[in-house]
Amino acid sequence: MHDVSLSFPNRTITAVVGPSGVGKTTLMRTLNGLLPPAQGVVSVAEFGPLDNPVAWQEMRRRTATVFQDHALIDRLTAIDNVLLGLADSRHPLSLLPWPRSFRIRAAQALDEVGLLGRATARVAQLSGGERQRVGIARALVRRPRLLLGDEPFAAVDLALARRLGDEFRHLVARSNLTVILVLHQLQMARTLADRIVGLANGRVAFDGSATEFDASAEHRIFGTATSEGDFLCPANQEREAI
Ligand SMILES: Nc1ncnc2c1ncn2[C@@H]1O[C@H](COP(=O)(O)OP(=O)(O)OP(=O)(O)O)[C@@H](O)[C@H]1O
Ligand SMILES: [Mg+2]
Repeated sequence: MHDVSLSFPNRTITAVVGPSGVGKTTLMRTLNGLLPPAQGVVSVAEFGPLDNPVAWQEMRRRTATVFQDHALIDRLTAIDNVLLGLADSRHPLSLLPWPRSFRIRAAQALDEVGLLGRATARVAQLSGGERQRVGIARALVRRPRLLLGDEPFAAVDLALARRLGDEFRHLVARSNLTVILVLHQLQMARTLADRIVGLANGRVAFDGSATEFDASAEHRIFGTATSEGDFLCPANQEREAI
């Protein structure tokens, strides 16, 4: 990626879109501090540049990520997976049961994604969409300031995605939350996000309000031939082809 210069204001929802392989996951990994940029700096208001270990730790504590591949532990129940979101709040070798207050928080998070009824089911027995919702609940249980999602709605249908999107909206409105989501459904991005960042050829090709993301912006990002002659097809089409 080159010349990526972006800032994400508090209490906003930004959708990151772009063709497969353009660097969306890479950008998210850079933003959550897991991948230091080869050049340049990621800086968080209040904490400063993330190359400072103290700032990095503070930022990590207040950040939650929903992964593309769920990253759940199959043999554990849904609620135990959600509790793992709080693992850094207690001693890693603790053999004690999770405190009641934590279990209540985890149950609330499962309720927020409509999955309280499956709290004690093993994750291995859940559907793809249900697993995805467990992943979202595990992020929400941390009560993060920054919520990062890498295609968090990939395995849920549009109606449920809208509901979860509404939940994010409420969270942004009632808490001091900033949300950045990689979304492959443009319709979702337009409905959900305040702002869309479109990546093409390793650069920011669009950065504006969701309402400004029109057909020409879409064409710039998904539908144009690169100078090398590669053809970038829409992520959706590519996915269907796979
Ligand atoms: N650890 C790595 N080392 C080297 N190259 C990598 C690594 N991870 C990803 N890449 C490459 O960087 C590019 C961007 O990958 P990335 O996973 O960020 O794409 P993406 O936009 O998230 O794609 P998708 O929509 O398919 O998830 C790809 O060409 C990929 O092969
Ligand atoms: Mg990706």
